[in-house]
Amino acid sequence: MPLIRSYPLVSLIARTTYPSFRLPSIPTITTLRHRSRTRTRSVSTRAYNLNRPGNRVRNGMIGGAVVGAIGFSFVTHAPPTLFRYQVVPLLRWIYSGDDIPTEAGGKGPGAEKAHEVGLKALRVLYDLGFGLRERGTHEYLDNGELGVELFGHNLKTPLAISAGLDKHAECIDPLFNISPAISLLEIGCITPLPQEGNAKPRMFRLPTSNSIINRYGFNSVGADTAAVRLRDRVRRYALKHGLTEREVLDSTEIPASLWPNRLLAVQIGKNKATAETDMEAVKRDYITCVEKLGRYADILVVNVSSPNTPGLISLQKRESLQELLAAVVLAVQKADRRVKPRVVVKVSPDSDSVEDVKDISAAVKFTGVAGVIVANTTVKRPLNLLVSPQMSEEEKRVFHKEIGGLSGPVLLPKMLELVERYSKELGHNAVVFASGGITNGKDVQEARKRGAKIVMGYTGMVYDGVGFFGRIAGEMKRMVDDRK
Ligand SMILES: Cc1cc2nc3c(=O)[nH]c(=O)nc-3n(C[C@H](O)[C@H](O)[C@H](O)COP(=O)(O)O)c2cc1C
Repeated sequence: MPLIRSYPLVSLIARTTYPSFRLPSIPTITTLRHRSRTRTRSVSTRAYNLNRPGNRVRNGMIGGAVVGAIGFSFVTHAPPTLFRYQVVPLLRWIYSGDDIPTEAGGKGPGAEKAHEVGLKALRVLYDLGFGLRERGTHEYLDNGELGVELFGHNLKTPLAISAGLDKHAECIDPLFNISPAISLLEIGCITPLPQEGNAKPRMFRLPTSNSIINRYGFNSVGADTAAVRLRDRVRRYALKHGLTEREVLDSTEIPASLWPNRLLAVQIGKNKATAETDMEAVKRDYITCVEKLGRYADILVVNVSSPNTPGLISLQKRESLQELLAAVVLAVQKADRRVKPRVVVKVSPDSDSVEDVKDISAAVKFTGVAGVIVANTTVKRPLNLLVSPQMSEEEKRVFHKEIGGLSGPVLLPKMLELVERYSKELGHNAVVFASGGITNGKDVQEARKRGAKIVMGYTGMVYDGVGFFGRIAGEMKRMVDDRK
């Protein structure tokens, strides 16, 4: 059993995650029998007490143990399907609360906590030298058939992790390490000043449709802290390779990702307190982020499409967008690295009128922005999500009542339509990145057929686990081979 085999590792992870953790002794048959005779508390009482300090440790231990053990087995022998059908549902079961402490009347750790613990486990495993890594020979890399050229870099696949997974620049290397199928990682959104984001709960699962509703609202450690983390990576890399920090930043060979043939995109946004109507203040917010983070990025993504920051989407209007993008493009020219980052803008799937697409494309062409990410989450609630007979009452409530951006497979048709329209509108002036609802190789190939150069995923990985991108790359390769 992988869980047993990696027991010391599990304890180490749990202790790093929760310092007060002590390794419990593995129960013997006798102690188990004794416990079952003396157990008096009901399941509901135990669930109610889930977040008491003692139980929080146990809770963290279980979470750390599951993620750690499975992570360990992934490196050695477990197939990716283990994640999809066992680990992901198990984590969902463990973290089934609402992220409000029970002391405060909530139901304890939920989707957001699961996200946090998952990232922490990835990071700890990586730091210990047991980073999660796709096993096998990565045959999808053979003959370079999935390769694409982007901004002068030869990427091995067109696949990318989109923003929101690593919001605080804390898991870059562990995420790249998972699979060579991941060619690009977009971190953020990072705001100039730190901010809390919206009140919890703010992330909700809709498991019957593999979807998520989130209203994080740009919770961010802020540009200064993110810059410290990004600089630390550069310094470590320099030390390891006998270079100076300056030499790394000024290299024309080493991408900002610090991984050959892979790129790091840093997404930037404005603080909630900055009024969207005050264009000078808005520009200052984005320029501050460029000044602090630009030197660590291959690509800078301007987010004007999150539905969870009031008024942000209004910045997609032609005049505002043109003014903002021009300011960012100018600021990027002063970024303190030899190869300047390319500027890309991320748009909303809800701004889909003929005028919207024309206006945004015109602003992109006018300012010389290098690409458009099509698209972010939607505030719409397509009713076809309700068809599953397995949908629980709670899931229906979430669907109807919880405000925020919806993501997952339901976005796919709109994403494909918009990718096609933006590709036609932009021609060769800018690269189109697809983001929205991909779950398999066919979705990715369809997005590319419609004009996307890079195809990004997030919610698919939440439900599929860390084998997501490797599986998709394998499916793409088989499609290419079948056509021969
Ligand atoms: C929990 C969560 C947080 C997200 N945070 C961000 C964000 O900070 N910035 C952003 O541009 N998009 C964010 N997104 C949107 C994703 O990057 C992606 O564009 C969207 O979810 C559609 O792709 P998907 O269906 O593959 O998830 C977030 C999505 C989720 C589910």
